[in-house]
Amino acid sequence: MHFDVLTLFPAMFQGPLEESILKRAQESGRLSVALHNIRDYAADKHRVTDDAPYGGGGGMVMKPEPIFAAVEAILAGETGVPVVLLTPQGRLFTQDVAVELARHPRVVLICGRYEGVDERVRQNLATDEVSIGDYVLTGGELAAMVTIDAVTRLVPGVLGDPGAIHGDSHARGLLEGPHYTRPAVFRGWEVPEILRSGDHAAVARWRHEQALRRTFERRPDLLARADLTPRDQEFLARLADG
Ligand code: 6GU
Repeated sequence: MHFDVLTLFPAMFQGPLEESILKRAQESGRLSVALHNIRDYAADKHRVTDDAPYGGGGGMVMKPEPIFAAVEAILAGETGVPVVLLTPQGRLFTQDVAVELARHPRVVLICGRYEGVDERVRQNLATDEVSIGDYVLTGGELAAMVTIDAVTRLVPGVLGDPGAIHGDSHARGLLEGPHYTRPAVFRGWEVPEILRSGDHAAVARWRHEQALRRTFERRPDLLARADLTPRDQEFLARLADG
């Protein structure tokens, strides 16, 4: 998986890319991230990347020329590469969007500043616009890091345990149930008996029911799109009846 990130603040990415799984994914060659400073593509002497908005009003708007120049130089004619603009106006980034992006070997991420990007970038350069949630960030950089993280962990071989992806919260449209590790009793709080029973089928059933219960209690909105068996439906119907 290769990401090209266009940003005015490439140094923001250093920390997250140099730790843990993203670091190892780069070392193993499964992930590469090229950070491109948009300023380097500004043609004027002062390398200006933003300007006042037409029509007046506050804030600054990112100019189109450096962004177009950067994407065109980076892609060098390669087609079929998603060009994703990170913006609070984008479609909501969900696990489904992460899965969709992970199908591509290469993705371009454009980090907008929150005041905005010239509309012609949206209309004629970006193939997709993504937001990571209903709150406002100072810029698209953190959203780009979230995107890189969520997509990279779906790349084969990046996670030690490939089964981890399928057990994920959201993987099947459900939240995960509770997890426990040793000690069996901590400050008087016990690990549920069934997890210590050694009955793998019973454990699997219990975990699945906990996932259904937790989703029902915390995120009932997710159940509408979850992939549920008739047995799941019955279990949920019993929960709803109290
Ligand atoms: Cl992608 N950008 C900004 N500036 N704010 C956001 C966002 C993106 N997603 C949620 N809030």
